[in-house]
Amino acid sequence: MKKLNVALIGYKFMGKAHSYALMSCPFFFKTGVEPVRKVIVGRHAAPLKQAAADFGWEECATDWREVVRRPDIDVVDIASPPNTHAEIVIEAARAGKHIFCEKPFTVTVAEAKQALDAVQRAGVKHMLGFNYRRVPAIAHAKQLIASGRLGRIYHFRAVYLQDWIMDPQFPRIWKLNRAIAGSGSHHELCSHIIDLALHLVGPITGVVGMEQTFIKQRPAPAESDKLSTMLTADGASSKMETVDVDDTTLFLARFANDAVGTFEATRFASGRRNHNRIEINGSKGSLVFNLEDMNRLEYYNADDPKDVQGFRSIQVNEGCHPYISHWWPPGHAIGYQNTFVNQFADFFEAIAKDTKPEPGFEEGLEKQKVLEAVTNSIARNGWTDVR
Ligand SMILES: NC(=O)c1ccc[n+]([C@@H]2O[C@H](COP(=O)([O-])OP(=O)(O)OC[C@H]3O[C@@H](n4cnc5c(N)ncnc54)[C@H](O)[C@@H]3O)[C@@H](O)[C@H]2O)c1
Repeated sequence: MKKLNVALIGYKFMGKAHSYALMSCPFFFKTGVEPVRKVIVGRHAAPLKQAAADFGWEECATDWREVVRRPDIDVVDIASPPNTHAEIVIEAARAGKHIFCEKPFTVTVAEAKQALDAVQRAGVKHMLGFNYRRVPAIAHAKQLIASGRLGRIYHFRAVYLQDWIMDPQFPRIWKLNRAIAGSGSHHELCSHIIDLALHLVGPITGVVGMEQTFIKQRPAPAESDKLSTMLTADGASSKMETVDVDDTTLFLARFANDAVGTFEATRFASGRRNHNRIEINGSKGSLVFNLEDMNRLEYYNADDPKDVQGFRSIQVNEGCHPYISHWWPPGHAIGYQNTFVNQFADFFEAIAKDTKPEPGFEEGLEKQKVLEAVTNSIARNGWTDVR
């Protein structure tokens, strides 16, 4: 098994998820590659050192530029905020490293083009962290749609509902800062449901959107917590700042295949912690998925005899379902963390077999164009083409 040294940038929420996945990947998947947790990178030495110890990294470092140039690093894994992605991708590509990058790809379309150009010039492997594609139920939905089981697709309907910033005293961390995050619920949550829409239904040609910011002033985060999402109202300072991102974004979309879509993302849906639900209606049937019940896929087959017609609830835990044969015997559920293992297994298998990992940065650019078209449509108050 070929060993590849990984440098991970970011050590908090996604840093932990990626560390877990890199550790578990060779245990469950024989990809031909064994990732070595070589260096974990962050900006604050003390918590970083603790994360390195907790997550099993050989070394830690505070300067990502030095690390991505190191000759002993093979793969750069980016789990830092979106405004850092393009710059790190460009440097890592110049140094000839394979690159895994968290979503959203970048803040702007212009940055996405530069980052894509850099990896294409360098000829390195590149993949984005849209882990919900790696939920077996979603991968199964993709297979059902591709095999024609839904017929012609008419509707894609998605909501991504959370409630984690409803407390007005919750500080204005980087996920509420346009310069760092790109936008609010839109870049964070719509990016996921746009990915599922493009993956399952196809390209989007036009959009019209609206947004709202409910809490317009928030306490600044305490200095030491400025770049962390892992905090509560306790991490606030007494200084107030203006929130310059959306708390909710909604938009309508037209697909190239004449299907239509509705999208709603919010961090103000009280009681909804991580409610990522999609419904797809086609001429021959429908599919429903909700991340809060992620081992299940609802399927309606219009060809069933009338007396037994209705949505059936498929537990996506059989050996015949995507990814499941690597995990447990039928019926033994998998969880959120496993989607990251599936994701890295696909990435390392593509490196081992010299194939193209998906979604690559080309697809990242397409998603940035949809994100930006929605933002433009809100600014000009009308339908906007995606180009
Ligand atoms: N795939 C998913 O479901 C998912 C979920 C959450 C976040 N994300 C994405 O992962 C990325 C990180 O988000 P998070 O929730 O882990 O954030 P976080 O705040 O929990 O962690 C961010 C990390 O980046 C580090 N960092 C910040 N600026 C840096 C810089 N300039 N140089 C080096 N390190 C820097 C911080 O120190 C911290 O370790 C974002 O792109 C986010 O959109 C993806």
